[in-house]
Amino acid sequence: MNVVELIRKKRDGEALTEAEFRFLISGYVDGHVPEYQMSAFLMACFFRGMTKEEILTFTKLMLFSGEVVDLSEIPGIKVDKHSTGGVGDKVSLLLAPIVAACGVPVPMISGRGLGHTGGTLDKLESIPGFRTNLSVAEYKKVINDIGLVMIGQTKEIAPADKKMYALRDVTATVECIPLIAGSIMSKKLAEGIDALVLDVKTGRGAFMQTEEKAIELAQTLVEIGNGFGKQTIGFVTDMNQPLGSAIGNWLEVVESVECLRRNRGNNDESKDLMDVTLLLSGAMVFLGKKAKSIHEGIERCREVVSSKKAYQKFLQLVHMQGGDASSIENLEKYPIPVLSLDVKTSEKGFVGAIDSLELGLAGIALGAGRQRIDDTIDPKAGIVLRKKVGDRVEPGEILAILYTDRDQEASAARDRISKAFKIVSNKPTPQPLIKYIVDREGVKAWR
Ligand code: URA
Repeated sequence: MNVVELIRKKRDGEALTEAEFRFLISGYVDGHVPEYQMSAFLMACFFRGMTKEEILTFTKLMLFSGEVVDLSEIPGIKVDKHSTGGVGDKVSLLLAPIVAACGVPVPMISGRGLGHTGGTLDKLESIPGFRTNLSVAEYKKVINDIGLVMIGQTKEIAPADKKMYALRDVTATVECIPLIAGSIMSKKLAEGIDALVLDVKTGRGAFMQTEEKAIELAQTLVEIGNGFGKQTIGFVTDMNQPLGSAIGNWLEVVESVECLRRNRGNNDESKDLMDVTLLLSGAMVFLGKKAKSIHEGIERCREVVSSKKAYQKFLQLVHMQGGDASSIENLEKYPIPVLSLDVKTSEKGFVGAIDSLELGLAGIALGAGRQRIDDTIDPKAGIVLRKKVGDRVEPGEILAILYTDRDQEASAARDRISKAFKIVSNKPTPQPLIKYIVDREGVKAWR
């Protein structure tokens, strides 16, 4: 088989066979297919898409590029969640310990920052010493000992996604339903789960900017999950403003810890973060058969947050994966960025919209994300929002604060962040944060 021929075939809109996909994916993993040819193939997929049958074949081959972990000796129904990616989306950091504290084991394989969105691995690795590259044996030991584990794709588990994910990040080939489906579901099906909850983001800061596209992606993911025998529920949730207040790796760890430790998120700028976290956690607790409904699951999750059991679980996780738990207990001891700049408004009115795509891109410029595969991330860099959609503002008030060591980027980023806030004269009507639930029965508005 000839790689150029396969690129041409996809470029011209033809469907590939299983043997052709296998040739490309295994060749890419073992190094016979170079990055430049895979980049061209991914761009052809971006423009031409895949048939339903191709998506299933692609996902299966991505999955079997590595090992499928067997967790059958671990008692309980193992449940995970995955988000399609958003700005300020630190839900996994909160949800995994919450669900584990409710008695449902959570094996989680996540990714790094992708496009303008942040990644769970980069956030976890901002905790001094935290290891996300565990071997399969270590992975099994951690979940067995404490009921949760959080790692990245490895040479053994989902290796095709490990390589392709990093390549898509820097070749503008992320926003493509077949590639997202193969990427997410290969990781999730490899980790040893029995059931899965998906959070498909929609809006300006999401890869799927329209609700129609988000529903299509949710249906594709739910169909693949159920097709592989894993009970799967998807939600479509809003990403028209960042989730919570922090954007940037360590800043997001801090916000998550404060939600777990100090019950932040009740009636402040972290409320949307906590609402989405409790919904997805509640659905996981329901799938894990520790609650009779999603709503009952949400109540159970609230209890383990209030009792600090979820916070204790998070500390246990940090400790078990080599992290310095004292950095979590003493958040103020973390290194401080060289620069912090206030972003102020000169207008009076209400925040009508916050462009999360722009904030995600500003975060990357400040050092919180990558522009090239080999870029290193500055864990301290990022943005903290002081105002969210619907808040009243007066001239001179602070909208956000940016943090960076890159003084040459700071003033352009400040302008970009300022322009991302749209100030309007009338208080905007609140939009639903959680829009749809997608399961075997179809798509329904969430209530
Ligand atoms: N999350 C993933 O794991 N993969 C994608 O392609 C997009 C979001």
